[in-house]
Amino acid sequence: MNNVNVINHPLVQHKLSLLRKRETSTARFRQLVREISLLLGYELTRDLELEYKTIETPLAEMQAPFLSGKKIVLISILRAGNGLLEGMIDLMPSARVGHVGLYRDPHTLVAMEYYFKVPHDLINRPVIVLDPMLATANSSVAAVQRIKEAKAQNIKMACLLAAPEGIKAFQSAHPDVPIYTAAIDEKLDDHAYIVPGLGDAGDRIYGTK
Ligand code: PRP
Ligand code: URA
Repeated sequence: MNNVNVINHPLVQHKLSLLRKRETSTARFRQLVREISLLLGYELTRDLELEYKTIETPLAEMQAPFLSGKKIVLISILRAGNGLLEGMIDLMPSARVGHVGLYRDPHTLVAMEYYFKVPHDLINRPVIVLDPMLATANSSVAAVQRIKEAKAQNIKMACLLAAPEGIKAFQSAHPDVPIYTAAIDEKLDDHAYIVPGLGDAGDRIYGTK
């Protein structure tokens, strides 16, 4: 699939399998999401620009590479996106952070917005949008639309699991935004849950069910 990056690193795949298991506890689930987000973050930031500056090691002067340009922005789609956010912040402690509050209406599946707060200067900053699940993609399509309205131009979408239906819908709405996912699952069920999936990501991260 064009513009879809499946991070099939063995560590990611192993941790994802543990995450999917019904019996995985809330504490372990949270820890695994954090660990996977670190590994996804590594791939998501592969194309960040570097600039060279003179430094002195204990032995010699050298031209050493440092990140250049504007600081990256991480935007979490509440609430499950916050699970991924924590690991990403460990990796990028000076990232700017935004939040988009959305919930999926269980009957219509429409994404309902209840909160929106992102850094004011998104233009020229790399933006990574975080949501573990791309199911119908109603939530991520709406979030990315709002983020584009806030002037972001360089956006990546990061998730743990994507359904083929969601990928199709996301790409037809935002063909310019690459998707990074740990796996593409089989399908959506009658309630638009990803199958085989991992269940309700928010409930499993926060132990609300
Ligand atoms: C879940 C998930 C995504 C959304 C995916 O959120 O975290 O945001 O569903 O489904 P979609 O692709 O069909 O829109 P939910 O609405 O359950 O809210 P929560 O994160 O607060 O639990
Ligand atoms: N939201 C979830 O948390 N899980 C799914 O499988 C679909 C939407």
